[in-house]
Amino acid sequence: MPKTLIEPFRIKSVEPIRMTSRAERERLLEEARLNVFKLRAEDVLIDWLTDSGTGAMSARQWGAIMEGDESYAGARSFYRLEAVVREITGMPHFIPTHQGRAAEKVLFSTLCQAGQVVPNNCHFDTTRANLEVLGVQALDLVIPEGLEPARLHPFKGNIDLARVEALLQAQGDRIPFGMLTLTNNTGGGQPVSMANLRDYAALLRRHGKPLILDVCRFAENAMFIKMREPGYADRPVQAIAQEIFSYADGCTMSAKKDGMVNIGGFIALRRDEWIEPVRNLLILTEGFPTYGGLAGRDLEALAVGLREGLDEDYLRYRLRTAEYLGERLEAAGIGFVRPTGGHAVYIDARSVLPDMPVAHYPAWALCNALYLEGGIRGVEVGSVMFGKRLDDGRETFHTMELVRLAFPRRMYTQSHFDYAAEVIAEVKEQAGRIRGVRIVRQPRHLRHFTCECEWV
Ligand code: F0G
Repeated sequence: MPKTLIEPFRIKSVEPIRMTSRAERERLLEEARLNVFKLRAEDVLIDWLTDSGTGAMSARQWGAIMEGDESYAGARSFYRLEAVVREITGMPHFIPTHQGRAAEKVLFSTLCQAGQVVPNNCHFDTTRANLEVLGVQALDLVIPEGLEPARLHPFKGNIDLARVEALLQAQGDRIPFGMLTLTNNTGGGQPVSMANLRDYAALLRRHGKPLILDVCRFAENAMFIKMREPGYADRPVQAIAQEIFSYADGCTMSAKKDGMVNIGGFIALRRDEWIEPVRNLLILTEGFPTYGGLAGRDLEALAVGLREGLDEDYLRYRLRTAEYLGERLEAAGIGFVRPTGGHAVYIDARSVLPDMPVAHYPAWALCNALYLEGGIRGVEVGSVMFGKRLDDGRETFHTMELVRLAFPRRMYTQSHFDYAAEVIAEVKEQAGRIRGVRIVRQPRHLRHFTCECEWV
């Protein structure tokens, strides 16, 4: 058997990408105030800013789009998607939303009250923000291994059950439900094991608490379980996904990830008593319950995409892609969050710029260097994203300085990854030339999206 694991698709429609010169990129980055979020996408060669809504749809999905029923109420497309979601999740109630954060807003506004606290492995930013805006504390309780980039562990997304139990005993009356994020994006795209999920659900149940899953990347998580957890190697990945959902009382989904679509999301619920208030709020903010802010054609594309996202050949290639780039980085002596996760590789900027002071934002500097060297756009996950400038002018910094390269689904081929590995290795060779930045303008919240910088 040949060892090369190929892309399990061929290309039917192409979109040119534009090579720029180094001089051009220097000018473009200056014009963007040294913030890659402000670049025009057409000036980026390889865009690994996010895997969210950026992937390629299949010929089947484009075909299904023509079948979209755009009726305001009771569209055929709704019932088609509802049947797929019911089959995968086993949950009777399905509510479409325009994307993941809308699902979070509607569900949390219905189930939570100010003063409560929600445990999770790690909350994604919008999940945290949608809880905090309601006065609810979002508590991250991932296992300690999940916070050490170089530490190998097959399920670094697991939640620390001892800490959850202590929380339930000390403040059980404040907890409306427990959450778990599959895979754990904020912690490096790391999976949760079935054993951890099962034990967490049982622990919550003993205390009378429901479990809500954030399932953006549930298919990648299910494939990791198949590949790594004893007893699952011979189970179809869809059956593993069904078991995952069987432990939950509800879920929120950003379909822009494992739904394989460019826009969409949903809530699925097991409990009848939640459906009425959730639908009422949905009508107020998203739309009628049979379209939830999406067009009929979007519902059709998602009905097909959810099945394609569970295809095992696709998933094996998908997880191998990140692993492959990890191997290339390791050979070049570059540190990254290990093992590689499902949707992204997180480079440890400290391994490239060990001497740069944190106040010069090494991960931000590395992100800029990747663009200047090779036209690659990643995202800083470090002290610009998670640090703050206090009112007295002092700064707080993040514990890790990472650059996330997140891979759109079915979009880039192996040669794009080989090219990126060469660029990253070259950047490390030239690390002495990389300049840090200082922030000259920033908003109060989520400063990484819009801040303006200059070279130190
Ligand atoms: N939960 C997780 C774990 C996510 O990664 C995201 C989005 C959301 C919820 C929100 O979903 O964007 O559809 O509203 N993550 C993207 C990213 C933006 O780049 O990681 P959304």
